[in-house]
Amino acid sequence: MRLLVCGGAGFIGSDFVRRMLAKHDDLEVVCFDTLTYAGNLDNLRDVATDPRYSFVRGDICERAAVEAAAEGVDAIVNFAAETHVDRSIAEPEAFLHTDILGTHTLLEVVRARGIGRMVQVSTDEVYGSIDVGAFRETDLIKPSSPYSASKAGGDLQVLAYHTTYGVPVMITRGSNTYGPYQYPEKLIPLFVTNALEGGKLPLYGDGMNVRDWLHVDDHCDGIEFVLFNGVPGEVYNIGGGNERTNREITAIIIDELGLTPDVISWVSDRPGHDRRYALDCGKMADAGWTPKVDFEAGLRDTIRWYRDNEWWWSKIKHSTGEFADWRRRWYDERA
Ligand code: NAD
Ligand code: TYD
Repeated sequence: MRLLVCGGAGFIGSDFVRRMLAKHDDLEVVCFDTLTYAGNLDNLRDVATDPRYSFVRGDICERAAVEAAAEGVDAIVNFAAETHVDRSIAEPEAFLHTDILGTHTLLEVVRARGIGRMVQVSTDEVYGSIDVGAFRETDLIKPSSPYSASKAGGDLQVLAYHTTYGVPVMITRGSNTYGPYQYPEKLIPLFVTNALEGGKLPLYGDGMNVRDWLHVDDHCDGIEFVLFNGVPGEVYNIGGGNERTNREITAIIIDELGLTPDVISWVSDRPGHDRRYALDCGKMADAGWTPKVDFEAGLRDTIRWYRDNEWWWSKIKHSTGEFADWRRRWYDERA
């Protein structure tokens, strides 16, 4: 089997590439990624010399480049996206471009080339916030941020292409994911790496927003399950079943690193901040898939991974001005 993994140089995509090559001897992976600020070939250095792996630098919005990379592939898994809610609030355009137009371009290529399967990796954020209960795949989507609205636009394209053209594509909607190699703008790697550098942990609002945390290995396991067992046109929720407030996450980080709560800095809330995400994952469970990683053990292992792999995140945070410039802009604009 030959697989085109779009966005494979990012956090979740690179875990997926590594796991697919490790698990399946007969599988070839073409990683297609434009290498935005979040794309990083360091994430794939473990597989860089594997003869079954190749890398193509390209943009999923550019049809000719996608067509060339898709030559001879049996399936496409699309992780490529702009993914950070805060950046989508400050600079939304790139989100519409990649997350909607890019998804459309991939669907056109699958349709034109008769590619056998596609998985669109989406997010629980398309459903919006829910105070009690949990969203099922059949619930209405009601996204709150430019990021989640753009992902929702991609999802709607996928469903329309299945209905109209019979394109064989499935959607996964994963919950908040954590693990090694996550770009340190997201809550867990930002807080851990700030703490390791003696900095502050900027908690938004009252710190009581709830996310359902999913280990990256479980997320990729669920995506693989859908790739091989999913029914075209269907949506699959992939949650970790680990609802925690941001305060609870922060407390574990502080405890694991032997710090005290005065490292927290309480900062003004994110505009439009979703209060709680929750998924009903009965459909995946009925199909035979459940997550495996124990949350507290997974989080503590992840914290230790960042402690032991400063080479990976220090480069991102300090070798160009991009990371610091973005953080300064984000706080300056809201001061
Ligand atoms: P990430 O930001 O770490 O990586 C995104 C990757 O996509 C990068 O390598 C980037 O270079 C690439 N990319 C961006 N625009 C591109 C384009 N136009 N053409 C080609 N490549 C492009 O993101 P992630 O956290 O690994 O998320 C991967 C996918 O999973 C996304 O679609 C996201 O919406 C979804 N998701 C993420 C989470 C999470 O908690 N991180 C949870 C659920 C779903
Ligand atoms: P994030 O990792 O950006 O993921 P998402 O917004 O997609 O869920 O944020 C997770 C939670 O952590 C969210 O409630 C916002 C909060 N948060 C902070 O309190 N401080 C921060 O600096 C960041 C980046 C996030």
